[in-house]
Amino acid sequence: MPLSIQRKDLSGLTVIVTGANIGIGLETARMLSEMGAQVTIACRNANKAETAAEDIEKTTGKKPHVASLDLSNFDSTVAFVDEFKANHDRLDILVNNAGVVSSSKGEDGMSKNGFEIDFQVNHLSQFLLTNRLLPLITNAAQNKINNFTPRVVTVGSNAATIGKIDYSYVQNSANLPFLFTRYANSKLMNAMFIKKLSEIVKDNGVVAHVVHPGFVASDIHAKEDHKVPRFVIKIADFVMKATARSPVQGAMTSVHVAISDEAAETTGKYWDSCKVVAYPNKLITDDNAVDQLWADSLKYLQEKGIEIDH
Ligand SMILES: NC(=O)c1ccc[n+]([C@@H]2O[C@H](COP(=O)([O-])OP(=O)(O)OC[C@H]3O[C@@H](n4cnc5c(N)ncnc54)[C@H](OP(=O)(O)O)[C@@H]3O)[C@@H](O)[C@H]2O)c1
Repeated sequence: MPLSIQRKDLSGLTVIVTGANIGIGLETARMLSEMGAQVTIACRNANKAETAAEDIEKTTGKKPHVASLDLSNFDSTVAFVDEFKANHDRLDILVNNAGVVSSSKGEDGMSKNGFEIDFQVNHLSQFLLTNRLLPLITNAAQNKINNFTPRVVTVGSNAATIGKIDYSYVQNSANLPFLFTRYANSKLMNAMFIKKLSEIVKDNGVVAHVVHPGFVASDIHAKEDHKVPRFVIKIADFVMKATARSPVQGAMTSVHVAISDEAAETTGKYWDSCKVVAYPNKLITDDNAVDQLWADSLKYLQEKGIEIDH
């Protein structure tokens, strides 16, 4: 059944959507722009981001800001936050949408910072980004516009169902597991991070949720850097077109959670098809495991000389 969302006037609200040059992120940014928010699209490729911003302007009349963010690089992540803070004193909605499924093996599967790519892009840099932006989100909660509750929305995945906490490969290129295992583990971390974050920010008037967008047709032809054989792409394309949600439908749950009163009245929930559903993995409600992931994430960043200073 097609999903729909209730529109809201978002005038005056400040929004970041990561990975918004394509797919679910692009449509999320478009809907939030169309409702009047001042959206920043944070993307790793400046040309693709500019094209996306122009496309959003064409359909909504409102051009989002474009900012450079490469989550596989801590310097880029820190620089993005510093620049955003220099130009904004509030953040009403952070949509952590950017995500990757890395098929690379050996050293190619590792970031410049020495971490397995899914672990860094999908979890560790997102942990850093969100924590560093928290003062702006808290400030928005103390100075609400139209009584809007500021929030963090992270796009997770039901792949978390089979995820595990396994650090044996995150700094060891010789030990990389199957690509879907890396992705599933990182998506489990998304949900565990948001669960803990929701508790930490509860008393600040900020909520945090994780969403599963459904099975969504990504534009796999647009990825010039994928290493998948052409016949596999053709089959995947056919299956996707026949069975998947469109990116617009895929963005609906993110947008619902980003703007609805329903999502403001609760926190730390897992959403699918615009509804709260059961957590996909029991580790998400395991307080010890969640605390341990938070501590380990801090430790990995500290080893690189990065503190979470809020
Ligand atoms: N599609 C699905 O069926 C599905 C299902 C469950 C969950 N999800 C999640 O939904 C989110 C959006 O997925 P999608 O289907 O819209 O995928 P997509 O079309 O591949 O878009 C992913 C976005 O993330 C960006 N990104 C990748 N690596 C990055 C990095 N190092 N730094 C900054 N941005 C980076 C991409 O930028 P480039 O364009 O430059 O690569 C792109 O903008 C992801 O978190 C994904 O895991 C998707």
